[in-house]
Amino acid sequence: MTASYPNLRMRRTRSSGWSRALHRETVLASADLIWPLFVTEGEGVEEPVGTLPGVSRRSVDGIVASAREAVELGIPCVALFPNTPPDRRSDDGSEALNPDNLMCRAIKAIKDGCGSDIGVLTDVALDPYTSHGQDGLLDGDGYVANDETVAVLVDQAMNQAEAGADIIAPSDMMDGRVRAIRMALEMGDRPNVQIMSYAAKYASAFYGPFRDAVGSGGLLKSDKKSYQMDPANAQEALREVELDLAEGADSVMVKPGLPYLDIVARVKDTFGVPTFAYQVSGEYAMIEAAAAAGAGERDALVLETLTAFKRAGCTGVLTYHAAHAARLLDG
Ligand code: PBG
Repeated sequence: MTASYPNLRMRRTRSSGWSRALHRETVLASADLIWPLFVTEGEGVEEPVGTLPGVSRRSVDGIVASAREAVELGIPCVALFPNTPPDRRSDDGSEALNPDNLMCRAIKAIKDGCGSDIGVLTDVALDPYTSHGQDGLLDGDGYVANDETVAVLVDQAMNQAEAGADIIAPSDMMDGRVRAIRMALEMGDRPNVQIMSYAAKYASAFYGPFRDAVGSGGLLKSDKKSYQMDPANAQEALREVELDLAEGADSVMVKPGLPYLDIVARVKDTFGVPTFAYQVSGEYAMIEAAAAAGAGERDALVLETLTAFKRAGCTGVLTYHAAHAARLLDG
């Protein structure tokens, strides 16, 4: 610690813009951002998501346009989530394994349109494909069966990898899925496909607008507490991260974001591995609601919250504000 002395004035370095720039400890850049995009069927379709003001689901052509925009803005990666048509959802979520599903078509279209200019991160979990909205397969008691689900997730991950996904991001919280996916990628001749595991994912009340966007919210009858983590737990998050790293994850994620920055900081300090956070849909909606209500200035709220992620130790942040933030950072 700095000893106190008579002429210590902490405000001295804050007194002008150039000096604040010089002393800034954390710098946010477009390259820190991952932009989540919602894919829907059709051509030229753009459907606003009511609970996520400013965010739309787009058909594959529009998703490619968004990916091009990301490249222009210096955003290195997009994350894809499908809104599977209702008639393709089933108890076993088998549409996830269809090589021609929305997700695979979007992956291929981005890879055809943008080549290696952008990374494509894909979500592995069954909730956008199941008729019950859970992330896995249900046993007779309605419990999400772990090992049976992992077997399907492996096939889902391979389906996405074969379509050209660069980063597989399992968001399901089943035990053992990272190892199983890593082995399948190695055996399946996709050794360079990365795994970013949603390692510490909490059973959060902040996911509501996302579930509207992928159309699973209305289907979900109960909660996800038997697999997603208890928001009260921090030690358990470190065990989850340790395990996923041992199983072969290249990077880990903490989710949600802002209410869990303590977890981000502990994970980064403990393991020193690439650590990402997801500023989730409910967090985005809160910022938009505050701005719309005149309770805060939107641009400032966006940049302050994203900078806070970096200060806590994040390597990067998934945020629906990615394009907006990148434009602010450019300007
Ligand atoms: C699904 C998944 C969820 C999110 C990302 N992947 C929702 C959930 O677990 O119910 C949430 C993202 C957000 O709220 O922005 N496995």
